[in-house]
Amino acid sequence: MPLVSTRQLLDEAAKGGYGVGAFNVNDMEQIQAIMEAAKETNSPVIIQASRGARAFAQDNYLYHLMLAAAELYPQIPLAMHLDHGNSFETCESAIKLGFTSVMMDGSLKPDGKTPATFEENVAVTKKVVDYAHERGISVEGEIGVLGGIEDGHGAGGSGLDHVTDPDQAVEFAELTGVDSLAIAIGTSHGAYKFTKKPDGSVLKMNLLIAIHNRLPKTHLVMHGSSSVPKDLQDIINQYGGKLKETWGVPVEEIQLGIKNGVRKINVDTDNRLAITGAIRKVFVESPEKFDPRDYMKPARAAMQKVVATRMVQFGQAGHAGDYTAISIADMAKGYANGSLSTKPLVAAK
Ligand code: G3H
Ligand code: 13P
Ligand code: ZN
Repeated sequence: MPLVSTRQLLDEAAKGGYGVGAFNVNDMEQIQAIMEAAKETNSPVIIQASRGARAFAQDNYLYHLMLAAAELYPQIPLAMHLDHGNSFETCESAIKLGFTSVMMDGSLKPDGKTPATFEENVAVTKKVVDYAHERGISVEGEIGVLGGIEDGHGAGGSGLDHVTDPDQAVEFAELTGVDSLAIAIGTSHGAYKFTKKPDGSVLKMNLLIAIHNRLPKTHLVMHGSSSVPKDLQDIINQYGGKLKETWGVPVEEIQLGIKNGVRKINVDTDNRLAITGAIRKVFVESPEKFDPRDYMKPARAAMQKVVATRMVQFGQAGHAGDYTAISIADMAKGYANGSLSTKPLVAAK
């Protein structure tokens, strides 16, 4: 199957009432781990690359690895997504390269740190939507600001500092026409999200439900959705790592989100933990080894296990064969004739 539009994947997920994991990659082994997990569980999947990943791997390597994945797994609907684009130019270059969807994260200024105004966010996101939709590419926006900071990206602080206002979410969707919307409900990027297990009173699920009720056609996206499992933390620490005690987002909370309009779930940290733990284990247990395959194979297998588990938990498992790809050219026609419009049915109050 050619690379598929994220919008199609999410429309299908909405029909089927499930969520689709969007897993971050930086290299070939991570792409391989995700594709094997997708094959194992028969899942459609979104693979995403951040600006940092694009700089690390170089665009052409990344793009051609994604084409190889699509070629090797023709039965798997696969979308290639830009994670946290910081400007129109970043999104434009991803679209020119061949990404099938982009995130314009206008919740922050182009420095990727300072919260932007609502007006700035609307202006840059709308510009990206106009450019992308004309080319059949789907767009994720963000309203509200996540907590934490990863590789220089993020406003820092707690995930509860700038949670999404439902009225603003509706207005934002109306003004920009985004396909999907990342909302801030208390999660943060990275491993250090919560100092104790968060329950429903910590994560603002009521906001999520309120937003979904008013924006039923806009797919909601949960960032910062790693669960930071204790067993993965323990492996790292057992083999010489120094992670402090921490909690991530419980899978049950994500599943509650999926019941209420969350269709895309971003996971990176859990895979980073799995890879690092597996490599540390080999280094400590077999210090005589120096062939990278001796530690990259278990690292890849550990990531595959995490991804396959999430695919089952998010409900995308078993759905790879439900549909055939709509071409990107036909997606462009759908945007042009209005059939893919997500404009809210209910106007902002
Ligand atoms: O949003 C953050 C993702 O985990 C990507 O992180 O910017 O360090 O590649 P990164
Ligand atoms: P985690 O750090 O929780 O894995 O979040 C990843 C993410 O939101 C990527 O955009
Ligand atoms: Zn994110």
